[in-house]
Amino acid sequence: MKRIAVLCSGGDSQGMNACIKAIVDTCASNNVTVLGINRGYQGLIENDVRVLSKLDVANIETIGGAVIKTSRSEEFMTEKGFRKAIENLKMNDIEGLVVIGGNGSFRGCRDLVNAGVNVIGIPGTIDNDLFYTERSLGFDTAVHQCVKMITAVKQTMFANNRASVYKCMGRKCGDIALHTAVSVEADSFAVSEIEYSIDQIVSDVKNSIAHGETAPVVVMSEGSPLDMDEIVRAIETQTGLVTRGMEIGYIQRGGEPTYYDRMLGVRWGVLAVQLLMQDMTNLALGVKNDKIFSTPLIEVENVLQEFRVDMVNDLRTLHALPKI
Ligand code: F6P
Repeated sequence: MKRIAVLCSGGDSQGMNACIKAIVDTCASNNVTVLGINRGYQGLIENDVRVLSKLDVANIETIGGAVIKTSRSEEFMTEKGFRKAIENLKMNDIEGLVVIGGNGSFRGCRDLVNAGVNVIGIPGTIDNDLFYTERSLGFDTAVHQCVKMITAVKQTMFANNRASVYKCMGRKCGDIALHTAVSVEADSFAVSEIEYSIDQIVSDVKNSIAHGETAPVVVMSEGSPLDMDEIVRAIETQTGLVTRGMEIGYIQRGGEPTYYDRMLGVRWGVLAVQLLMQDMTNLALGVKNDKIFSTPLIEVENVLQEFRVDMVNDLRTLHALPKI
């Protein structure tokens, strides 16, 4: 293939820009024309397309977001919108398309594959919920942002002998909350993957207080069925500590990508172009044990992964709590 395109879709994630840059640079070195489709599938429907040069992507690897922007396109899910998207791919002579996105975007990839489009899917989502791959772009930075924020807030909580509860993003996936909780030695932890009650959280917090903790921390995922305000009230009334609840929010989706997300973005960007140059398509890229791989896009839909209970138990052992 000599003419390809790239788009970002769904929630943006740190490392997308590093990936776009690597795609454009690899194309420039190999005389492949690369088009950037602005605003994801919606931009494809509206033919918001331009050729990307090395100069267009210079120095973008250090910033979060996506320079070609992203969207969650409802129109792409309609027959008319989907047909328009296919027409525009043909009109622009696009031989292969790289989609960087999460779960919803991968569904779009599979529809495109079924319609005869040559697609490579790159996992780009802070949620880490594409289970065929150990990591997706942005997850490492999102956890880094959560850890940084909780560490800063904990300093003021500690000075005031206050408890605090933090809610991480991740949709139904508790990975951001888990990795964050372990990193900050959270005293208790709640995700949708493990059944847990507010009473158990309060009991964990009391256990930490009994062992000398003066500013206990609870980390939860947005997918947890528990209510953050209720957790805050329960800790406050049952321990007597002033307790604050905070949604970490969009700060975890922004900011400079970590080296890891940049590196992953570069490696996947290079691999995507390499594959398309050899006319190898309809693949999803992933990473396992630090090795990047490609696997049929059609097959990654139903891959499930066990939640890392071993990591939860590391944390519980730290607080002398029984393993689950
Ligand atoms: O999928 C990424 C994500 O940041 C989720 O963690 C979060 O639930 C959602 O997107 C927020 O979506 P939006 O940016 O549309 O508010």
